[in-house]
Amino acid sequence: MAKVTKAKTLYVCTECGGQSAKWQGQCPACQQWNTLVESVAEAATGGNRFGLIAEAGKLQRLSEVEAREEARIPSGVSEFDRVLGGGLVAGGVVLIGGDPGIGKSTLLLQSLSAMGSTRQVLYVSGEESAQQIALRAKRLDADAKQVHVLAEINLEKIQATIQSEKPEVVVIDSIQTLYSSALTSAPGSVAQVRECAAQLTRVAKSGGATIILVGHVTKEGALAGPRVLEHMVDTVLYFEGDTHSSFRLIRAFKNRYGAVNELGVFAMSEKGLKGVSNPSALFLSQHSGEVAGSCVMVTQEGTRPILVEIQALVDEAHAPNPRRLSVGLEQNRLALLLAVLHRHSGIVCFDQDVFINAVGGVRITEPAADLAVMMAVVSSLKSKPLPAKLVVFGEVGLAGEVRPVQRGQERLREAAKLGFTHALIPAANQPKQPINGLTVIAVERIEDAVVRFRDGFR
Ligand code: TYD
Ligand code: MG
Repeated sequence: MAKVTKAKTLYVCTECGGQSAKWQGQCPACQQWNTLVESVAEAATGGNRFGLIAEAGKLQRLSEVEAREEARIPSGVSEFDRVLGGGLVAGGVVLIGGDPGIGKSTLLLQSLSAMGSTRQVLYVSGEESAQQIALRAKRLDADAKQVHVLAEINLEKIQATIQSEKPEVVVIDSIQTLYSSALTSAPGSVAQVRECAAQLTRVAKSGGATIILVGHVTKEGALAGPRVLEHMVDTVLYFEGDTHSSFRLIRAFKNRYGAVNELGVFAMSEKGLKGVSNPSALFLSQHSGEVAGSCVMVTQEGTRPILVEIQALVDEAHAPNPRRLSVGLEQNRLALLLAVLHRHSGIVCFDQDVFINAVGGVRITEPAADLAVMMAVVSSLKSKPLPAKLVVFGEVGLAGEVRPVQRGQERLREAAKLGFTHALIPAANQPKQPINGLTVIAVERIEDAVVRFRDGFR
């Protein structure tokens, strides 16, 4: 029997790169605590550290490099293609993260079965058995004939399988379950995740297979494992949405082959994920009449404007510290906006609990929501509804000025398309040509907006 020599491991500091033969709590080089992680020692090659045995590289002029558009592999799911920037790229590595149960495995199985008819695809699962995957495929009514599955968590075996079977697209579900025999640490540890991702990236870049890695997220919602994981791969996608509602969003966080902030919208159904091509109406709750504390905004996600309802509830506080709570919007930003409201328009909330919510489980990070949040708060505080057919957007600065947002025209056009008749927007976003059916109320300062509200936007 051939003797298997175990690769040497050493401990490398994640802060300074210092090395140590054994694990220590403190890095001997930079004195940082808990920064040493296990990694594989590179086998020594000939030559000294200045690499005298290497030949000099050949230089190329950038203008002479042939800039080809990457050929895209359609993923079979159109909303998935949209976030990817037009499809998968041969040799690309995609990392997709999201809460447990959000639908990562479902989406990838749907995509693989759609691609399976024309391409060789492989689904590697470290979390579920082949039976469980088969059961899901049946539930999805997916064409499972062409999808090869491998229930395996050993990296070397997976690499060998990819080398011998030569699949075009490989899904690894998930990177945290894999382990490399070269390391002794447990699967899911920083060292293992980093090593496995690095090896798989190498496989993708050398063999041309497209690899999709599923990643777990931490309690805070970031991808679990080392930050370098995000640097290693070409595309990082996040799956989000409220598990209690059926809507799911995929957001691009980094994309070497396309635009970020592109959004894919799905609805989870009995038979898996269904793409939603016109998501604008999704995030509006259906009120029979006007209600206080509700304000519709237009948010811009990538190339798509989406209408989202912002709700606020302002209620008398019964504790010395009033509560400020936000769901789907930034909490710190809320405190800031309340301060601006007080300072510049004399609206007092210091004895009130303030809760805000973006309907439908969306998460809005852009400051264009500021004006809508403030109008919802004022409306709830005064128990006076905003007009039902009004949309609002605009960023609000600390000095009380209402700042323009990008792509104002597109937002307005989307609102008009969905039957909105009035828009409260920053003065600088005032359209040059009037938009059919839409009355624009342009304001320069938050005081103006509050005054217009008081007058009922007449
Ligand atoms: P899953 O893809 O297993 O999530 P992840 O891999 O991100 O952990 O999603 C499972 C959830 O989706 C589960 O709670 C059941 C639900 N689901 C449906 O509602 N319809 C379906 O057709 C399928 C396959 C799953
Ligand atoms: Mg899963």
